[in-house]
Amino acid sequence: MIIYSRNRRMRVNDSVRRLVRETRLATDDLVLPLFVMEGNNREEPVTAMPGVFRRSIDLTVKECKEIYELGVKAVNLYMKVSESLKDNTGKEAWNPDGLMQKTIKAIKDAVPGMIVMPDAALDPYSIYGHDGIVRNGIIDNDATIEALARMAVSQAEAGADIIAPSDMMDGRIGVMREALEESGFSNVGILSYAAKYASSFYGPFRFALDSAPKADIEIPEDKQTYQMDFHNSREALNEVYKDIDEGADIIMIKPGLPYLDIVSKVREATDLPIAVYHVSGEYAMLKAAVQNGWLDNDKAVLESLTCIKRAGADMIFTYTAKEAAMLLNR
Ligand code: PBG
Repeated sequence: MIIYSRNRRMRVNDSVRRLVRETRLATDDLVLPLFVMEGNNREEPVTAMPGVFRRSIDLTVKECKEIYELGVKAVNLYMKVSESLKDNTGKEAWNPDGLMQKTIKAIKDAVPGMIVMPDAALDPYSIYGHDGIVRNGIIDNDATIEALARMAVSQAEAGADIIAPSDMMDGRIGVMREALEESGFSNVGILSYAAKYASSFYGPFRFALDSAPKADIEIPEDKQTYQMDFHNSREALNEVYKDIDEGADIIMIKPGLPYLDIVSKVREATDLPIAVYHVSGEYAMLKAAVQNGWLDNDKAVLESLTCIKRAGADMIFTYTAKEAAMLLNR
C-alpha cells in the first residue's frame, strides 16, 4: 500500500507546523474592557470574574500604562454609575465632568497612544437598567438615539478615539455619525455592536456595573425587544448592512465563542474590520473550570482567542487581554 498524500507530513514538528500556520494571534488584536468607579486608589473584585476588578480612575490609568507596555493598545470603557445619578433620560452620560469623561481624559493624558473606546449605551445610567429611555412600558427608540448622539459627542469632546455603541437601537449609527460630523469630530470612529444577541452570557458583566434590568410589570425585563434573538443568523447580516450604510467603521459580533458561525458569515459579507466580544460569561466559564483544575488556563485562553480570530475577527474584546499579551510575549 502506498499513500501519496499524507496530511501528517506538515505536522511532524513545531517548525513545520508554524510554517503552515494560517492564523496568528498578536497583542495588536486585543482590546481590554475596563470597569471604572468613583474614588481614589480603589479596587474591587468583580463577582464571577476572577482577576477582573472595578477600579478608580487613578488605578485604571495605571492598568492602561501596564497593558500598553505589554502591547495592548486599545481599551473599552464601562462606568459604574452611582445610583443617585441614574434616571430615565441618561443625562449623566453627557455630563462633561462625568466619570466617563474624566476617565477618557485621564487615560489620553497619561497614555496618548492608547485607543480609547468608550461604551455608548444608557444602561449604566438608567434607573431601569435598560439601554433605552422607557416610555409607557416600552423602550422609546427615537428618543434613545438622540440621547446616544449627545453621549457620543460628549465622549469625543473628552478625547475618545472610537465610540462603541452597545445598545442595539435602530438608526443610532446614523444619528451618532451626523452629530459627530456636525461637531467637528470627523476623525472619531464608530465601532458598532451590529450583531449583538440577547444573551445569558452577559450576567457577570451586569453584576460588575449593577446594571441588570429591573423586574417591573410595566417594562420588559429582558432586552429581547432590542438585542437579537439567538435563534437567528440571517438577521445578523441585515443588522450589519444597515450599520455599514449608516457609517459604521468597525462591526462587532457579540457574544464570541458560541457565535462563531455568525462571525464567519459576517466575514464573508463585509470587508470592514470585524470585532468580536469574548463576553463576561465566557470568561466566567473558563475561569471557573480553571479554578476547579479542569482546564489549563494558558492553553485555554490562547486557544479561545485564536479560534475567534480564525473565524474572521480582526480584533477581540476580552477580559483576558492582559494575561494573553503576557503569554504572547513569552
Ligand atoms: C450593555 C452592555 C452589555 C455588555 C456590554 N455592554 C450587557 C448587556 O447588554 O446587558 C456585555 C459585556 C459582557 O458580558 O462582557 N450595553
